[in-house]
Amino acid sequence: MLSAERIMQRCEALARHSELPGGLTRVFLSPESRAAGEAVLGWMREAGMQAKLDAMGNAVGRYEGERAGLPCLMLGSHLDTVRDAGRYDGMLGVVSAIECVDFLNRKNKRLPFAVEVVGFGDEEGVRFGTTLLGSRAVAGTLDPAVLKTKDGKGISIEQALRDFGLDPDELIKVKRKKGDLLAYAELHIEQGPVLEAEGLALGVVTAINGFSRLRVTLTGTAGHAGTVPMRLRRDALAAAAECVLAVERTAQADPELVGTVGRIEAKPGAINVIPGAVEFTVDVRAPRDELREKAVASVIDAIEAIARARALTTKIENLQSSGVAACAPWLMAQMDRAVAAAGLKVRRLPSGAGHDGMAIQAIADIAMLFVRCKGGVSHNPAEAISQDDAGVGARALLHFIEGFHAVSA
Ligand code: GLV
Ligand code: MN
Ligand code: MN
Repeated sequence: MLSAERIMQRCEALARHSELPGGLTRVFLSPESRAAGEAVLGWMREAGMQAKLDAMGNAVGRYEGERAGLPCLMLGSHLDTVRDAGRYDGMLGVVSAIECVDFLNRKNKRLPFAVEVVGFGDEEGVRFGTTLLGSRAVAGTLDPAVLKTKDGKGISIEQALRDFGLDPDELIKVKRKKGDLLAYAELHIEQGPVLEAEGLALGVVTAINGFSRLRVTLTGTAGHAGTVPMRLRRDALAAAAECVLAVERTAQADPELVGTVGRIEAKPGAINVIPGAVEFTVDVRAPRDELREKAVASVIDAIEAIARARALTTKIENLQSSGVAACAPWLMAQMDRAVAAAGLKVRRLPSGAGHDGMAIQAIADIAMLFVRCKGGVSHNPAEAISQDDAGVGARALLHFIEGFHAVSA
């Protein structure tokens, strides 16, 4: 039997590996991520897998098929979190996949393909601002220049890997070839309200919306908050406030668009100093690439116009962007059948959130299964799912694995 209780307990156990007590924050290549990775590797081994951390810090487990060395069905999700995160975003997919392999192992059941489970080390991109580092390494699409990206403390990804005891020169071995994977499938919480509103526990994902991430720096002049008349100021934070509203206005112009300024920092950051510089991020997403690209262009135009009007200088960096990642029709059909076999109505829906499949699609077709979450709340410590839904999600995933056949049409 699959144990929904154990899935929930394992998500709880992983939530204890956190940077701060009393909440959950676990960023890429942190001591907490090592502890979570070790726990996951232990569960993988208990489930009959050979398991190890790869050179990118991904926890990788392999359950051989009818004979050793067969191509695999890869399952997975991520083990890093946002700041003050929920317990299920990413982790549910990893522990549910391990639960399914454990079931196969206890039945001594071998399939005509191997099953691999990956707990990706970085999907959220919180530490380095650039996302999907774990899955991009597996897909072989991680530009080596990205390894120079630094975190807020000035530590590069390359250095962080070394500090973690990993060798960046070994990254080449993390890359998988196209034929190694028959497909990639990920179970994940929905992170939105659609399934709950319709009284459904599961949904089959059609596509993952594309995203663009920018980092904007506005530079004006720091000065005395008491002495500089308003008309003579070059206040970078007042300009940034206008920019935040411009992002909001741009996104509000189309119901398919979303735009967010999620991080902002004013410098030097004192109550009695006019902010001389501000750095903020912009995240824009849409289910159509042209729509997103047009929105990003108009956000950039608006920021430049605001800065010009206030005599500020701007630096706008394109941190990362990714087009819409469509789930493969042949895999969606197999996922539909798995959901029906678990006794549920089949509902298809797109994903507004980003997922590791966006990177993995470079080497394999992808599928996703969504599990309902309470109130559609995610990226929030209040994120919650029911044990029943965890159980039905794992059951559908197991049906998918057992019924999987690699026919791409
Ligand atoms: C990841 O959760 C993202 O969609 O940003
Ligand atoms: Mn997330
Ligand atoms: Mn996630």
